[in-house]
Amino acid sequence: MIITFIGHGYVGLVTAAVFADFGNTVYVIGHTKEKIENLKRGIIPIYEPGLEEIVRKNVKAKRLIFTLDYKPSISESDIIFIAVGTPTTKTGDADLSTVLEVAEKIGQNLEGYSVVATKSTVPAGTNKRVKRILEESKPKGAEVDYASVPEFLREGSAISDTTNPDRIVIGAESKRAQELLVKLHEPIKAPLVLTNFETAELIKYAANAFLALKISYANSIAKLSESLGADALKVLEGIGMDKRIGNMFLSPGPGYGGSCFPKDVRALISIAKDNDYPFSLLEEVENINNQSRRDIVRKARKILGDLRGKKIGILGLAFKANTDDMRDAPAIDIINLLQNDGAKVSAFDPKAMDIASKVLKNVDYKKDAYEVSDGADLLIVLTEWNEFRELNFLNIKDRMEKPNIIDGRNLYEPEEMKAKGFNYMGIGR
Ligand code: UGA
Repeated sequence: MIITFIGHGYVGLVTAAVFADFGNTVYVIGHTKEKIENLKRGIIPIYEPGLEEIVRKNVKAKRLIFTLDYKPSISESDIIFIAVGTPTTKTGDADLSTVLEVAEKIGQNLEGYSVVATKSTVPAGTNKRVKRILEESKPKGAEVDYASVPEFLREGSAISDTTNPDRIVIGAESKRAQELLVKLHEPIKAPLVLTNFETAELIKYAANAFLALKISYANSIAKLSESLGADALKVLEGIGMDKRIGNMFLSPGPGYGGSCFPKDVRALISIAKDNDYPFSLLEEVENINNQSRRDIVRKARKILGDLRGKKIGILGLAFKANTDDMRDAPAIDIINLLQNDGAKVSAFDPKAMDIASKVLKNVDYKKDAYEVSDGADLLIVLTEWNEFRELNFLNIKDRMEKPNIIDGRNLYEPEEMKAKGFNYMGIGR
């Protein structure tokens, strides 16, 4: 099949590369010359394990073609995926301007029969607008069907999530479109959810918001465990063994971040409000998440008292491990709050420091975890990078001014850390 992706962010680039690897011819349309030139040379704009290799392999095989032009890719394609960003507007809604803009350009270049499918996360109802734009802009004789095929991949494990998903959701408006999309996904062995496009759009939001809810629930149980003297990890392990609950996405920490959960929770609250349903449950999920970030700072104050002039070292900046993504990372809010209190912050992250340095000023970026420890009054772990699991804590303790540690990701065993001479605080333990 010939397919086109508009957009080469996480979703666009990863899915395009995987479909090319299945033997399809895949065009990827971008709008920045420099980025497209880099992609043609196999230089990718994001850090994602395994992605560069699969991009290079398929560019070399001429199955993955990066371009700035809508012609001839759109007219040749059986399926065109819209995979551009939908950031949050000031009012909390999803900003659909890019989706609608590219829909018009796609429409103008359609020829023969094609399916246009949205992979971007868009509120229920958007696809009807996209469909209208396509119908109005397409030349006479072109025939188009519309579909919503939401994506569930996670950063850091994007390729295996795409090749081994839990399900494939296809919301198509005609049998013909549905069949074409089912055929494209044939190499992926996963259950199919075949439905209309409003349902597919809502599945995506409902899934992300539910996962965010699980995390806020875990963070609330962690907070309660601290007061009761319970071990939150055991409590959550204990409930997670119940198959009806499940053990995933129950790790307490500094709150969820990234480009999806914060934005999608806000957007679903806003969608509900527009439909006269105050989704107060999700409002509380968001409040608890903000509270989880502030709680790390509260713990720092509890250990150090006045933070003015105190040296605090941060281990991990990215919103999660295995990515350089800093979008809505808890580290941003936490470091800003520490600095507002007058703390001197140094930090190390294996991948995210370049990007972090653009959003977090006055931070002393170091070359590893040991340098961050030099003279520190407190270390705070904010990202669960594997390399932080096996540190030489005797060396770290020697370098620190005071051996205080807040383990924001529960990487270490409290008793072991205490035995090594640390004043240790985890989350919910
Ligand atoms: C999330 C979803 O997991 C994907 O299914 C979805 O496709 C994607 O959003 C999207 O909509 O594009 P992602 O944001 O890449 O993926 O990362 P997650 O692994 O879901 O983590 C999100 C945040 O939750 C991170 O800050 C992570 O540290 C936090 N988290 C996750 C916890 O605090 N506790 C957990 O138990 C799990």
